[in-house]
Amino acid sequence: MQQVEKKQRENWGSRFGFIMAAAGSAVGLGNIWRFPYLTGMNGGGAFIVIYLGCILFVGLSIMLAEFTVGRKTGLATVGAYKSQNRNWTFAGALGVLSGFFIMGFYPVVGGWSLAYVFKSVTGLLAAPEAIGDTFVAFIGAPVEPLVWMVIYLAVNIFIVAKGVAGGIEAAGKVLMPTLFVLLIFIIFRSVSLPGASAGLNFLFKPDWSVVTGQTFLAALGQAFFSLSLGMGCMITYGSYLNKKENLPSNALTVVSMDTAVALMAGLAIFPALFAFGLEPTQGPGLVFVVVPQIFAHMGGGIGMLFSVIFFVALTVAALTSSVSLLEVVVAYLIDEKGVARRTATYVASAVMCVMCILSSLSMGVMSGFTVLGVGFFDFFDILTDKIFLAIGGMLLAIFAGWFMDKEELKAEVTNNGEVSFGLFEAWYAMIKYVIPVLIAIVAYSGITAIEQKSLMIFGLLVIVVSAIFSKKL
Ligand code: PFF
Repeated sequence: MQQVEKKQRENWGSRFGFIMAAAGSAVGLGNIWRFPYLTGMNGGGAFIVIYLGCILFVGLSIMLAEFTVGRKTGLATVGAYKSQNRNWTFAGALGVLSGFFIMGFYPVVGGWSLAYVFKSVTGLLAAPEAIGDTFVAFIGAPVEPLVWMVIYLAVNIFIVAKGVAGGIEAAGKVLMPTLFVLLIFIIFRSVSLPGASAGLNFLFKPDWSVVTGQTFLAALGQAFFSLSLGMGCMITYGSYLNKKENLPSNALTVVSMDTAVALMAGLAIFPALFAFGLEPTQGPGLVFVVVPQIFAHMGGGIGMLFSVIFFVALTVAALTSSVSLLEVVVAYLIDEKGVARRTATYVASAVMCVMCILSSLSMGVMSGFTVLGVGFFDFFDILTDKIFLAIGGMLLAIFAGWFMDKEELKAEVTNNGEVSFGLFEAWYAMIKYVIPVLIAIVAYSGITAIEQKSLMIFGLLVIVVSAIFSKKL
């Protein structure tokens, strides 16, 4: 058993393979669907500046910390914590729980993206004025989005049950660069539309008057979500890294790629949005409304073709992320509970499917039904990205800073002195002192709305309960 475990843990064929897998997990709906709409809802440029600050000062350090803890322990989330200190098992459990809850809405949006591949060729682009209404009607429908969600989830199940993530990674290797190229192309189209400059102003001229504590929390949560941090996903990936890899440079590469894609998505969307006279604050529909309009305005077969390629690429980017989410949960059940891979995958995704049905219906027929003041979709979303991930990141920082040996960390980060990392002391001070305090302040000042307060209390309760029960995990 141990033997097999060891073998499996050394399976990144190449540095490129690792980078693509980690970047594949990071780059997903978070960058292309979520980042633009959050930017739109939080006032544009100011949000972006704060987001970049969160990436640079928090995200990058936590990414390195997750890689380090993962490679040092050679174990996935729960095992990594447990192997160092049994009292910390709950922090790993919280990560698994976050993965679970994110999968309570992520496949819904993955399903939208998949649906838009087909809608692109079945008349969606024929009437550009109707694209916004079509989207609202589509996501609010009782059956259609569920069908797409189930298909999307089934693909995840197929990949994870077979343990053939290699296949999706191979697809990612082709489609991620495709997405990159396509985004560049869309950016050119977008900025050359008449009236596009208003969008550029929105992105690059920060209006600080709209900034509140909530803006900071939204930016911090988005940084964690987008980089796949705060739930041990990158701990797990780090556990597969070989001892020769340069951790700081890998962390920098993944963070830079993720940030570049998010900024490109913003640049692709906002100039066109303003050119078409649309509202930046429209929320989750943004990418599904603006991008098809850009293609519709190109007209004819070529617009259709680009639209299909775009949504295929977006779906695959989403898949490489959701597979990593499902894998966190499945790996836990396999490693810690001894469940067989297939059983673990089916059981976990059956529960996720129920959560997704509730999330999807909360956009339509169940819109009046709320939990702690919000619909199911928002419940899973806010709970994970504004509460669990940020707290998960904070716990990891405290754990690495206060409960692991500094010299051992240094040896791991620098490959026993072979890699020079001049910023070690600064990084260490960040995770030990600055980041835990910073996250506490941001969480405190950002949770202002009453729904969010009750969600925060609920989230903390969940954490306490998991801490009590984690002794049994
Ligand atoms: N980073 C992914 C995205 O931006 O779409 C979402 C995600 C994947 C979050 C994996 C967390 C995670 F562990």
